[in-house]
Amino acid sequence: MKAGVFDSGIGGLTVVKSLIEHKLFEEIVYYGDTARVPYGSKDKNTIIRYAIEAVEFFKNFELDIIIVACNSVSAYALAEMQEVSDIPVVGVVEAGVAATAKKIQNKNDEILIIGTKATVASKAYEKGLKELGFHSLVAQATPLFVPLVEEGIFGGKVLEATLEHYFKPLKKPSAIILGCTHFPLISEAIGGYFDNEPVLVHSGEAIVELLERDFVFDSRFASTRLRFFASDNPSFLKSVAKRWLDT
Ligand code: DGL
Repeated sequence: MKAGVFDSGIGGLTVVKSLIEHKLFEEIVYYGDTARVPYGSKDKNTIIRYAIEAVEFFKNFELDIIIVACNSVSAYALAEMQEVSDIPVVGVVEAGVAATAKKIQNKNDEILIIGTKATVASKAYEKGLKELGFHSLVAQATPLFVPLVEEGIFGGKVLEATLEHYFKPLKKPSAIILGCTHFPLISEAIGGYFDNEPVLVHSGEAIVELLERDFVFDSRFASTRLRFFASDNPSFLKSVAKRWLDT
């Protein structure tokens, strides 16, 4: 099986990491729209337009599936991508909802959703979770985490101040949905802010569970061939991939 993985930039590499670990694909073609990142501050129609262009890009390869690693795109443009694609398109929001329901049995538990402004404004996670009976939902846009991760800031004073800024007014959640590609890289700091050890839902692990649930994988692959494409500065993407994925 060959997959295309789409993200607005470099953050989707966290999803690629999970896909590699689970040996699901013989080849992954990664496309990061680094020229136009961030998507999380853009409006719905713009995100849809860019997402449809990504489907067109992936038509240059013989792929079996497109995986949308970007939460902002998954929240707004999944149906539109599916409409123009000849192959299945799956996204991390649906996966994250299913993973949360698997991890949290008590529907009264408080679930905190964090993501970009676009993802939070879409209410896509809330919609999915409400359908499954969860009702104690709090969503907080935490866009400043994105540039911090891009700067390689995974701890220290600046991150601590940012955590305080966003989380101080909140109650302790039972679970936190890391609803943005970048957040797994600071998941320890995010989870560690609260002293009740909330369960963390990671898009990469969630999408692996969804793929294993909905698709048949005849074989596992000892190694995954990786091809990286970016709309701007592909060498930066490749250097981050080297660091994050140990390739
Ligand atoms: N990839 C985006 C997401 O997961 C974060 C970066 C952006 O705003 O484009 O929502």
